[in-house]
Amino acid sequence: TKDRFTNLKRGSYAVLNANDVDYFKKLLGDNNFITGEEVKAYNEDWLKTVCGSSKYVLKPKTTEQVSEILKYCYKHNIAVSIQGGNTGLVGGSVPVFDEVILSTSAMNKIISFNKLSGVLVCEAGCVLENLMNYVQNKGFIMPFDLGAKGTCQIGGNLATNAGGLRLIKYGSLQGSVLGLQAVLADGQVLDCLSTLKKDNTGYHLKHMFIGSEGTLGVITKVAIHCPNAPKFVNAAFIGLKSFDKVLSFFSLIRKEFGGSLSSFELMDSVAITSVQKNIGLKCPIDDNLEFYVLLELSADNNFINTSIQEVLEQALAEEIIVDATVGDQPSVVQNIWKIRENIPESFLRYGYVYKYDITLPHELFYEIVPEIRKRLEILDVKAVSGYGHLGDGNLHLNVATNEHSDKIVSAIEPYVYEWTTKCKGSISAEHGIGLLKTKYLKYSKSDIEVDLMKKLKNTFDPKKILNPYKIFPQDDIN
Ligand code: FAD
Ligand code: MLT
Ligand code: ZN
Repeated sequence: TKDRFTNLKRGSYAVLNANDVDYFKKLLGDNNFITGEEVKAYNEDWLKTVCGSSKYVLKPKTTEQVSEILKYCYKHNIAVSIQGGNTGLVGGSVPVFDEVILSTSAMNKIISFNKLSGVLVCEAGCVLENLMNYVQNKGFIMPFDLGAKGTCQIGGNLATNAGGLRLIKYGSLQGSVLGLQAVLADGQVLDCLSTLKKDNTGYHLKHMFIGSEGTLGVITKVAIHCPNAPKFVNAAFIGLKSFDKVLSFFSLIRKEFGGSLSSFELMDSVAITSVQKNIGLKCPIDDNLEFYVLLELSADNNFINTSIQEVLEQALAEEIIVDATVGDQPSVVQNIWKIRENIPESFLRYGYVYKYDITLPHELFYEIVPEIRKRLEILDVKAVSGYGHLGDGNLHLNVATNEHSDKIVSAIEPYVYEWTTKCKGSISAEHGIGLLKTKYLKYSKSDIEVDLMKKLKNTFDPKKILNPYKIFPQDDIN
């Protein structure tokens, strides 16, 4: 699978020598300097699409150690691949060649939580699920949730500007993150770790790092605003016959529940079949329908419980939906979510997945899926599916096969991106550009935008040692 990237040339970075190895070992200690067989897992991404050949993983425990590492790498022209939980889906979290891997896994301390403001301050390597459990015990929730919560880290979440399952209610990380600390390429520590809800004193530099995919600095600490936990949560799993009905249902739910709507996730029949077959989960309603919606409502009064029943009955009577189950017990809600959250893993079980994460206008949301199915008709494909965060206009188009094939890639790309551009959408709604989409950045960014991005990259990282080969097409940046 690595063949896809053989056209990339290694940048003129230093190759680590014995002195460098000694330096890092002394700085971090034997336990936090990883070499040998153990490095393999850090070289390969979750999708097993990209595999680097780094020999070393550095696991700093403090901001000061990150600063020392980068100061040294900057001086000696050593390229660095920054890694959090390594759950990224665009090949951004692993080295392409022999970049040294800087993992934030050992920076996992919670620093403070303020019950009055709801502001959590923690280190970048905290695993999202641990943070969710921590704030839940205090009556709060994290303002975002992802299927990868058990492994992804808050630093990685910020670096990718992760969207996820409850963005429709709580907005994007750009709104929830109040401050951050980052170490720049030359080792300087940039302290923007404000915990203030309002602060308009000049440029909001923190935003430079949210969604920067490890190309501008290493995020080391995060201050994030956590909402109060809703007193009532209700999840419903709904079956529908056509995509038009899905849109009518979305419109009805928006009208009835507005601010209580915390998720509106779409799954097509191919996704449900894949979860049933490859993971062994059971669809809780009729599994012969074309579309399924996972609807979550959260609020502070139990009005949602009675009114969701009424609204679903109305939708059934009007034949907008054809089947539904609804629950408010945590175990029921969790089981409903399990189906949705296991879709990515279920497709990977076929062998190989081509992932497209695009934003489209709601009316055109699903049209590309049958279109791609048609284009792949005569090729050896296991599944072509559309699912995702319909509430936010974010489609996940997945094509699953037994193994990677250039023929399949060229049947999908650049067609899918041309289509997305024609619809005035985005070629990456939430996963980012990473390594896999650099060629297509131009479909969503104008020349002026890319030029300004390059100037910013040059200002933050003039030697381009941080996450090389990512975001920008190689010819563009060197
Ligand atoms: P990594 O994968 O380690 O890194 C991702 C990028 O961030 C890389 O470019 C890396 O260099 C950079 N980076 C990591 N840490 C830092 C740091 N401290 N400082 C600077 N740069 C850093 N994404 C969504 O948006 N929404 C979803 O709903 C969603 N669901 C997912 C479900 C599954 C099952 C999986 C496997 C992935 C999912 N993702 C989703 C993608 C992924 O989980 C997110 O992108 C996540 O935010 C990545 O976090 P991570 O810690 O694993 O980062
Ligand atoms: C999701 O919503 O499940 C994630 O973004 C992962 C994926 O696209 O498969
Ligand atoms: Zn997603």
